[in-house]
Amino acid sequence: MSATARRILPTIPWPWLGRGGRVSGLRLGCFALCCAPGVWMLWLWFSGAFEPEVAKAALHETGKWAVRALLLALAVTPLRWTAAWPQVVPLRRMVGLTGLVYAVVHLFLYAVEQNWKLGTVAWEILVRFYLTIGMVSFIGLVVLGWTSTDGAVRRMGRGWKKLHRWVYPLTALALFHHFLQGKVDVTEATLSAGLFVWLMFWRLLPAERRAQPWPILALAPAAAVVTAGLEYAWYALATRLPADRIAAANLDWEMVPRPVHWVLVAGLVMALITFWRQRALAGPPR
Ligand code: HEM
Repeated sequence: MSATARRILPTIPWPWLGRGGRVSGLRLGCFALCCAPGVWMLWLWFSGAFEPEVAKAALHETGKWAVRALLLALAVTPLRWTAAWPQVVPLRRMVGLTGLVYAVVHLFLYAVEQNWKLGTVAWEILVRFYLTIGMVSFIGLVVLGWTSTDGAVRRMGRGWKKLHRWVYPLTALALFHHFLQGKVDVTEATLSAGLFVWLMFWRLLPAERRAQPWPILALAPAAAVVTAGLEYAWYALATRLPADRIAAANLDWEMVPRPVHWVLVAGLVMALITFWRQRALAGPPR
């Protein structure tokens, strides 16, 4: 290794290094999980699974992974409290930046799909509402990514937290973009929106209730009902499909699982984790 490399390499904030510059198993695992969808998409690309419209298929996948990573980043703080797991907090930045990276690749692929006609790309973003919404979310995410360094956190002080609260409306905009492009099939958009609703409901709980099992349990059906309402509203207002029959399918056992059921299950899992952690922390009865 050259002298320059030996000097520069230790100064790079490698994502798998914890405090004190030591390799952290948790960080390394998280980094591997963040990279996994990218590796999977490359494999799909080169194995021909994205044929015949390769760039378009990859555009869709990267969009979905950008949203999934954003939701995961928003789930870190609830996990920290419900699972009494403070070690996950430093992973939030890595997961959030993963969402941004997939969003950057998503935009890049849109330019590829448009044969690098950047004038057309800009024009389409200006005149197509769902692309404009995507772009607003994207610009906001870039600002958050840009200001996510330790230096920016220090320099911005309290303003940093205020700025980074914008991640909630920006994620909501990304979800709206997802709904708008999904048109008559909003299955994954509905699921993502439902999980987002749960994450926002959790943040609305009074601070002292956020790690208590019963309030967390109550969030599960509440988020599921709101998800069903959102799905109904989408089909009723934005499509010509029979919204009432789609809503009724949520109560039909033959149609299980629908997005609403996944949201309910995810909420119940969080409640279970909270019950289990509370018992574990309380220790064996004396
Ligand atoms: C930078 C501006 C953006 C542009 C130009 C853009 C463009 C597009 C296009 C062209 C599609 C496919 C539409 C179709 O085939 O009918 C799409 C879908 C999608 N985009 Fe974006 N997008 C942008 C930003 C974002 C951001 C910031 C996110 C998430 C954080 C995102 C998430 C998605 C998702 C989830 C889909 C749907 C994928 C699917 O269900 O198959 N997009 N976007």
